Amino acid sequence: MKTPAALNFGHSPETIEFWKRLVREALSLSTPPPLYIFSALPIAERISELDTELVSAGFQSQTQNSKPKILFRHWLSCKTQPVAPLLRWWREQGRGVEVVSEFELRAALAEGFAPENILVNGPAKHHWLPQFELCYLSVNFDSSAELAALLPLAKKLNWRCGVRILTGEEFDPETPQLPTQFGFAPDEAIAALKKLQRAKTRVETVHFHLRSNISSVATFERAIAEVAKICRAAKFSPLHLDIGGGIPVRHVLTRGGKIYDGQFGLVAFAQSLRQSVKLFPELRELWLENGRWVSAGSGVLVIKILDVKERRGVRQLICDGGRTLNALMSVWEQHALVPLAERGGAEVLTVVHGPTCMAFDQLARIPLPRSLKAGEHLLWLDAGAYHLPWETKFSHGHASVCWHDEKGIRLVRERQGFKKFWGDWK
Ligand SMILES: Cc1ncc(COP(=O)(O)O)c(C=O)c1O
Repeated sequence: MKTPAALNFGHSPETIEFWKRLVREALSLSTPPPLYIFSALPIAERISELDTELVSAGFQSQTQNSKPKILFRHWLSCKTQPVAPLLRWWREQGRGVEVVSEFELRAALAEGFAPENILVNGPAKHHWLPQFELCYLSVNFDSSAELAALLPLAKKLNWRCGVRILTGEEFDPETPQLPTQFGFAPDEAIAALKKLQRAKTRVETVHFHLRSNISSVATFERAIAEVAKICRAAKFSPLHLDIGGGIPVRHVLTRGGKIYDGQFGLVAFAQSLRQSVKLFPELRELWLENGRWVSAGSGVLVIKILDVKERRGVRQLICDGGRTLNALMSVWEQHALVPLAERGGAEVLTVVHGPTCMAFDQLARIPLPRSLKAGEHLLWLDAGAYHLPWETKFSHGHASVCWHDEKGIRLVRERQGFKKFWGDWK
């Protein structure tokens, strides 16, 4: 039987060909590797796929207008893929963006998002948000100290307020017996919702984000039921339920070979949400903030083989990009990795290394054709989520970036030259 790796992790030949065509076009623009190519098209496909299921389950999309159904709204998770042309493209669809830091808020404003289309999440924002005098922001509070500090502003600027709740379903994935550092514990959440109501703020939202790659729909169901209980205890009827992100990534395996989205079905997800929202009698909108699921498939990393070694039964390709510089995700994840040119012949166990002086710098360890030579290009697929935010300039500069949408492909960020690499020092 062929392994998922040999089957390109379930990617269709059309998808591989789509990316190869874009890579050839990018290289013909004299864009040197290492290079990321990001495309709007796979994002549009993912959104439309999820929309179809949500509409079939009985929700109404942001772009429809047929009351009294519950509307759903996708917020772009800026942290997942902070790419300026993506923000512009997304804004042109009339959609909103979710930010978690001062710089992300500034980026959203720079790309033309109106404050009412910006959702501010994340911890400790009372340390930077007060400098912005922006009316009509959506703000999900994360702690009692944050709420106390920001409440006067929330009233003055007419923010659409929400409370992030740490449900029992949210834990540190590396130490599951411990909670994450985010949101209000249930008792605190009840107190916060009461406080916001007493203060006559525009409190409208309850929010949770559990973690990435949630493997089962039942986890969402339990978290929503717990949030509904908290709302009842606080005598609060939310208008918006914000369930964060967490739909698992496709075509990607854990290092142990498990498929992330193996148990998760979009149809079941949409139907279960439709049932769960009945727990909130006055709900008008369901908010989603998916990062990985929406954008992972929208990018590839292109690297060039610089040198080849073979010893102790393994072939080693030393490339100009890799884990340390461009793909920290490869610590946890295995992605499809394909040569740009068709290469046949015998395959041998091959380790694909980046150029840094660390044994850790291993993008993949998979069988690859022995005929691969220095000078050839490799594509690491599904590089559209959390690759760019986690890139480093370890001994080398940042990669170049090309953007592709309905208008074609273009270079949107030059490869970092020495001046930028060293020029910040005073
Ligand atoms: C508040 C919040 N919303 C959404 C996301 C996106 O999560 P994912 O990429 O798992 O969908 C994150 C990721 O950390 C987050 O912290």
